[in-house]
Amino acid sequence: GSEEDLKPRPPVVTVMGHVDHGKTRLLDTIRKTDVASREAGGITQHIGAYQVRHNDRAITFIDTPGHEAFTAMRARGAKSTDIAVLVVAADDGVKPQTIEALNHAKAADVPIVVAVNKIDKPGADPTKVRGQLTEYGLVPEEYGGDTMFVDISAKQGTNIDELLEAILLTADATLDLKANPNQPAQGVAIEAHLDRGRGPVATVLVQRGTLHIGDAIVCGEAYGRVRAMLDENGQNLDEAPPSRPVQVQGLNSVPSAGDNFIVVPDERVARQIAERRQARARNAELARSRGRRTLEELF
Ligand code: GTP
Ligand code: NA
Ligand code: MG
Repeated sequence: GSEEDLKPRPPVVTVMGHVDHGKTRLLDTIRKTDVASREAGGITQHIGAYQVRHNDRAITFIDTPGHEAFTAMRARGAKSTDIAVLVVAADDGVKPQTIEALNHAKAADVPIVVAVNKIDKPGADPTKVRGQLTEYGLVPEEYGGDTMFVDISAKQGTNIDELLEAILLTADATLDLKANPNQPAQGVAIEAHLDRGRGPVATVLVQRGTLHIGDAIVCGEAYGRVRAMLDENGQNLDEAPPSRPVQVQGLNSVPSAGDNFIVVPDERVARQIAERRQARARNAELARSRGRRTLEELF
């Protein structure tokens, strides 16, 4: 697309931080829902994606798990985002996955907004969190740095509007968020699974173009025709513009999180591309296993 085809698109914001620091609760409060209390053990094990509106502007949020086992998910999250919100519980302070998330965001050159959470709790020390993060190079604006820190309580709903404002200010100050909606869609799979009734279901983030019902798509080694699209509230959509996350049905197999998707002219082309990728993956696997055998024979 040419320059004049570019239209403003909502920022994509990934919420990261140490386990149990309140990422899912924060998104629940923003969305006025209750995901956190329905999770097994209260631990997020997948990525959720939602779009909310604030003062007539849309913001796309991606939740990530803070448990140490999910490093790869945090790394992928940081790569497909415009802004990272780093959630730090003020009663617990900076922890290993806080630093890990911070490093992923820095590596991906993504601006960071810090949400200092749980300020309602006794022992909460937001000043200490600022000091700790300053040591890692994340210097608050009030200390002369360029990172916005907002003290919040996800539980009590304190300063949530201020946090959303900080996100939009950071987006406007540091990013030029545009995409051409009038081209075949491209994007990335955020998560995917096999649903007993619906078959392979993939949550994808549209990054460019607009995805439509009936589009032929290739996603990693999976392909198909978009049979149905649901938003985060289970509403059917006919189309998904840039920055919109949607659940897509109609793929022939389950893609991997992080796989890119593209729309192609028709399903036959989609199948050819997918089959070529499958053959390439098989050959690579074969080469690897041969390599292993050779080493085993040698030693
Ligand atoms: P993982 O996804 O497992 O990494 O956790 P998370 O960061 O999503 O944390 P979650 O939202 O599950 O919250 C963890 C616990 O902290 C829950 O019991 C929440 O109710 C609680 N919590 C979250 N935010 C606040 C807050 O602002 N104040 C208080 N007092 N508790 C909070
Ligand atoms: Na949790
Ligand atoms: Mg969570």
